[in-house]
Amino acid sequence: MSEPRPVAVVVLAAGEGTRMKSRTPKVLHQFCGRSMLGHVLAAAGELDPQHTVIVAGYGREEVSAEAIRYAPDAAVVVQHRQSGTGHAVRMVIEALGIMPGIVLVTYGDMPLLRAGTLAALVREHAAAGNAVTVLTARVGDPSGYGRIVRDDRRLLADIVEEADATPQQRAIDEINSGCYAFDGVLLADAVKRVATSNARGQEYLTDVVAILRGDGHLAGAVLAADPAEIQGVNDRVQLARARRAYNSRLLEAWMRAGVTIVDPAATWIDVDVTIGQDTEIWPSTQLEGRTVIGAGAKVGPGCQLRDTTVGDGAAVAHAVCVQAEIGPGATVGPYAYLRPGTRIGAGAHIGCHVELKNSVVGPGAKVPHLSYVGDADIGERANIGAATIFANYDGTAKHHTTVGADAFTGSDTVLVAPVAVGDGAYTAAGSVITEDVPPGALGVARGRQHNSAGWVQRRRPGTQAAARAHQAAGSPSADPADAGSPSAGPAAADAGPAGGSGPDEGARGT
Ligand code: UD1
Ligand code: CA
Repeated sequence: MSEPRPVAVVVLAAGEGTRMKSRTPKVLHQFCGRSMLGHVLAAAGELDPQHTVIVAGYGREEVSAEAIRYAPDAAVVVQHRQSGTGHAVRMVIEALGIMPGIVLVTYGDMPLLRAGTLAALVREHAAAGNAVTVLTARVGDPSGYGRIVRDDRRLLADIVEEADATPQQRAIDEINSGCYAFDGVLLADAVKRVATSNARGQEYLTDVVAILRGDGHLAGAVLAADPAEIQGVNDRVQLARARRAYNSRLLEAWMRAGVTIVDPAATWIDVDVTIGQDTEIWPSTQLEGRTVIGAGAKVGPGCQLRDTTVGDGAAVAHAVCVQAEIGPGATVGPYAYLRPGTRIGAGAHIGCHVELKNSVVGPGAKVPHLSYVGDADIGERANIGAATIFANYDGTAKHHTTVGADAFTGSDTVLVAPVAVGDGAYTAAGSVITEDVPPGALGVARGRQHNSAGWVQRRRPGTQAAARAHQAAGSPSADPADAGSPSAGPAAADAGPAGGSGPDEGARGT
């Protein structure tokens, strides 16, 4: 038997959500990669309703824009004054007319409801021939919710809001979720007759139940299998709870699909992320947006990946990656920052304290330590020496650098773009490369070293260094580790140039 298809899903989202204490309308608060409204519309969309209707009020432009992202054909009905959930539905019917068929009404602040639960509600509603069927739940603490009142035959008779409930009714632990299936024609008639004689002076949609029963129609209740699904979000404490619950649900699905998650309490995965089999996710990792992780990969600890692709068998640790692609078998981190447009080839290695932006690193190439790579193409198997900097920005424009296949840059090379280092070429450590290095050449661009013999004894007499130098010169049996490294020690850095007899810094190349 085919599933009954609702004529419309109506999502009420006009409220400000005062208890959020926020400039952002409540239903636009996000978790797991979607707004609350997005979660609700994604679940409702799975029922394939003929029409999707959103009631917007507070922040209606932003709310409408968000709704259209998930339900492009959605109709947005504006409720100018938030005069109650019944009033909101009345506005919908006044704007769009009577909708014959099953009308599903749900609230924008119930983001944990699953599509399967909505489908079960609609199915039960159709099978029982009810005028209204309410999704209910039994909860330990019913406070804040409308209570489900049943008659002596245990049939749904009424829904009473907490503020209007008698002490006996308050003790009822079956609550109204805020999700209902209605007969569209009967709803249109009943919602016009809702009174405002309640504690808040509002038109309550919940009053439709007693009105329809009074007309002799059938009303039913479907108990949610998992009461956690009907949690409403009214403040940021409940938002955090909903976030945690939704995240746990996603993590469980990935674990059941063959992904190892070492610490589910410290792992956050957005709803649109995909992960391959036998991949391990280590603690303190956030996978965001449309991140795609291959099979047999290892991600974490300490990763934040947004809209990033990680190939099969790759390993990424302590890294922040945004709109980056990491090839199969590549390794990244610890402490790497991959910015948009970074593509790391198969088997390549990006190491510690390395930042890349808008750059392609060829297969098997290495950028192991302390480097910045911006606007560059690095050929396959090239080795980028420690602290190589791709100087891509001249203060006005960005320029491109190419490093050829099997090339090698010495430590502390600065590649001043635009510049090219040819295939198989080298650069010497400490070089500032401003001109192209042809294939196979060694580019050297640094001052030649000059040693001013006896300088310390002449210019720093009486110091410990001078004593040591004297000792080293006089006694060949002195500790070679001390004697053989005249540039070691903190004083070395400011010794030469300050003495006025500095080395030949101007000489360049060999
Ligand atoms: C409502 C139900 C209560 C139920 C609870 C479940 C009513 C009268 N009460 O109470 O029985 O247990 O939800 O969470 O329906 N909204 C509008 N326009 C309005 C008023 C509300 O669009 O004029 C929207 C809000 O933006 C919100 C939703 O309807 O998304 C529910 O409104 P809220 O004020 O949160 O209702 P509750 O007091 O939680
Ligand atoms: Ca609510």
